[in-house]
Amino acid sequence: MAPETTEQTQEELILGFLAEGGEDFTSGEALSGKLGLSRTAVWKHVEALRGKGYRIEAVPARGYRLVEVPDRLTGLELGPLLATHDLGHTIHYHDTLPSTNERAFRLAHDGAEHGEVVVADQQTAGKGRRGRTWTSPPGLNLYCSAILRPDLAPQRAPELTLVAAVALTEVLREAGAEAAIKWPNDVQIDGLKVAGILTELSADPDRVHFIVLGMGVNLNAQPEHFPEELRAQATSLSQVRGQRVPRALFTANLLNRLEEWLDLHLETGFVAVRQRWKELSSTLGQDVLVRTDRREFRGHAEDIDESGALLVRAEGGSLERVLAGDVERLRPRVPGKA
Ligand code: BTN
Repeated sequence: MAPETTEQTQEELILGFLAEGGEDFTSGEALSGKLGLSRTAVWKHVEALRGKGYRIEAVPARGYRLVEVPDRLTGLELGPLLATHDLGHTIHYHDTLPSTNERAFRLAHDGAEHGEVVVADQQTAGKGRRGRTWTSPPGLNLYCSAILRPDLAPQRAPELTLVAAVALTEVLREAGAEAAIKWPNDVQIDGLKVAGILTELSADPDRVHFIVLGMGVNLNAQPEHFPEELRAQATSLSQVRGQRVPRALFTANLLNRLEEWLDLHLETGFVAVRQRWKELSSTLGQDVLVRTDRREFRGHAEDIDESGALLVRAEGGSLERVLAGDVERLRPRVPGKA
């Protein structure tokens, strides 16, 4: 199926006004005035929206009210919920893709602008960190990749992964889950993974061309949607909340929050992000097993430095700086037990 790309259509504008109205009715007269359309034309657009799965209540002498948004992630659903200046203004929606990161990388390579976002309902080859795959069944979760063109030295690009982890964790907390960040960028609830971030970079030695920020969030997946070997390590927001999560609302909240943090990062640097990351982290203060490509060691996770590297006090007493790898929390030793 061809991707749907958005511009502000009349239907989107109507949805925007209705979303703004919340529980209140918006009169047909007000809508036709705002849009410069006849009342009949407004009614026809409302009918078209109903045909796309929107539930819009219409009451004579009161007007229209948006009751339910379809569980889809095209620009039509997301546009009216976004409060961003750039992020998500163009949504490249696909029913199915191998990987939103791959698609975004190709689009960016071909000149896509800062803030364009690729979303897929399903991924057939979702990519995780360190060559892993990301389970991406249809109709349940969020898989999206944002194209960013920040004015940033390439060495500072990894900071954006921490920016995204902060935004994701805050939005999950606001949705009622006790989410926390496990270094470097896993988002967990009760020690189980709910979201992951994969950042990919195109750069010269002194200049970033673009960054693709890929985020996968388990929103409505149930245990049977994960491969057997992951069931004991993964969860979803709906498993924790006990009710279905409206995907469009979550996605819009995430993009809105992400842009706020990206702006702050660009204006003030990494300091505020680092501070917030530390508040939201479950890794600091823990005894951990560190695995990198080259080595494995035990120690105590003390801090992250000004570039996001993890500082671990190794068992021998040295302070080790870990730039990339995985950490596993070690259970505290019970005295008397081996
Ligand atoms: C991780 O290993 O924790 C990172 C997972 C990142 C998954 C997301 S889903 C959307 C985007 N497209 C991909 O192929 N991967 C990222």
